[in-house]
Parts: sequence; C-alpha cells; structure tokens
Amino acid sequence: MIRSLLHIGMTVPDLEIGRAFYETFGLEMRASGNDYVFRCPGRDQDQIRLMQGSKKKLSYTALGTNEAGMEQLLRKLREANVSLQPPPFDVPFGGIWFQDPHGDWLNVQVAEPAPAGGSVLPPEINAHGRYRRIGKRACDISTRAKRARPLRLGHLIKFSPDVPASTAFYTEVLGMLVSDKSLDILAFLRGAAGGDHHMVAFAKSTHTGLHHLSFEVADLDEIEIGAQTMIRAGYQDSFGLGRHVGGSNYFHYLRDPWGSLIEYFWDIDVIPEGADWEPIDAAPHEVMFVWATTPPPDDFVLNFEARD
Ligand SMILES: [Fe+2]
Repeated sequence: MIRSLLHIGMTVPDLEIGRAFYETFGLEMRASGNDYVFRCPGRDQDQIRLMQGSKKKLSYTALGTNEAGMEQLLRKLREANVSLQPPPFDVPFGGIWFQDPHGDWLNVQVAEPAPAGGSVLPPEINAHGRYRRIGKRACDISTRAKRARPLRLGHLIKFSPDVPASTAFYTEVLGMLVSDKSLDILAFLRGAAGGDHHMVAFAKSTHTGLHHLSFEVADLDEIEIGAQTMIRAGYQDSFGLGRHVGGSNYFHYLRDPWGSLIEYFWDIDVIPEGADWEPIDAAPHEVMFVWATTPPPDDFVLNFEARD
C-alpha cells in the first residue's frame, strides 16, 4: 500500500536556525503560511516542513500511495481499529491522518513523488571491466567549486520504544516489507511496490523521535563535498564517510541543530516489487557498516527528542 515517502514535518524552536542548516545542506526554502518548507533544487516536491514549536519534534511523516492502495489501506486501518483523525496541523495538503502504535502522526496521500529535477545523471564510472567514461574527465579545476545538490529525501529512521510492534504495524497495516533487521533493535522497511532498500526504519529507544533524515546525492564526491561544506560552516560531524551493510549505501551523517542526524547517501540497494529478497538478521554493528573512516560516535543512536 505505502509506495513512497513524500515529506516529513518537524517542529523546531527557531525556524531561522533550521533555514541556515538546510540551505547549507543544499536544500531550497520557501515560506508556506507560518512554516518553512524545504525542497531539493529544481524539484517540485516538499521534503521537510518546519513548523514553529517550543522544542524540536518529528511531527508527522507524509507517505504516498495510489487509489487502490488507499482503498486497501482504509480497510486495513478499520480492521486494526485505527481511527482517522482531523488534520492535527495547519497544513495546505490533503490525505488521511492517523497515529501509529506509539502515537506518531502519519499522513497518507494518493500521490506520486515528483521526478528528480534537472539533469541528474552523474558522470559515468570507470570500474574495472566496465570502463564507461572514455576520453572524458570526471574532474577538472571547476569540480573544486561543486556543491552538494540533494536529489530526494530517500528515507528516515525513527526511534521506537518497541521495534517489533512498529514493524508489525508498518508491514501488516501499511503494507511495507522488511528488507533487513537486527534482533529487536533495528528494522529496515521498504515500500509495498519495492524501490530503495529502506524508506522507513526503526531503531530501539525509550521513546519515539527522529534518528535521521537521508538525502540521495548524485555520486560519492557529493557526499563528501556536502559533508565537508557543513563541517566548514561549523555544523557538527557525526559518522562517515562509510558504507552500510543494510542498504549498501555510502553515507556521511552530520548532527542537525537539535541533536538528530542528517545523512547524504549514494548507491543504495534497490529491491524490485515481488523480489525474493532474504533479509539479514544480525547484530547491530554487523548491519551498520562495512567500513567507515571513523568509528560511530558514542551518541550515534542517542535519542535527543524527549517525550512530551
Ligand atoms: Fe540512512
């Protein structure tokens, strides 16, 4: 049923601090009522809605499905005794609203995410046996001035006080599929129609909250160009460069101004609909990374989002 991640909403105590952070990250801001909405350059798709609030909190996740998926979802929600609610936030879009087992708001719309903007194809790669960039430079002097241009919000990882319960709800009621997991500590879920290895994942904590948002960039260079730009601007580095096992994507994480993380990623596993995919179930450190230039920091899985 759930086919795509559209955007997320967060309350933060200072919208301007959020604006500076996400613009440095490579997103573009526009005002929407009292809120600040961020999009990837050249792409007609909201990705983050920042709303004024007393403290930082992941407010909702907006997901997409198609007409048939919405019908099926409404039936599943009725069967699970999950009631639809009036919109809990003053937002200019439709869809249905309900809460997951831990009270986190979900919005589901009949909508397809907008296609990526502009020309997004990175240079071809000369991998051994597959030399595809012939007679062309990958880099020249101007490459040094490149900036990261995030292409799309690929996934988010949410904290959950009960990962198996969250996994059960998102798979049985929302139709998502488990791609990999780690005991009752971590679970990576993809959309019902396949696609990225994970669209939503859950990490065990005492309470709900946002662990990280993750944006795809065009190549490995843009992960580090983006991360180094953020670090030079004074934002806190967290973890990376590295390569995950779960999803296989290259990553670099940075702290946002409120203690959660933001990730640049490239080269994630893609799983087609109906694939015979065997999930890994291993210890967290085995799933977390193949290699990384630094060990994960002690606070990598700390949940800074206090319960109300
Ligand atoms: Fe991620």
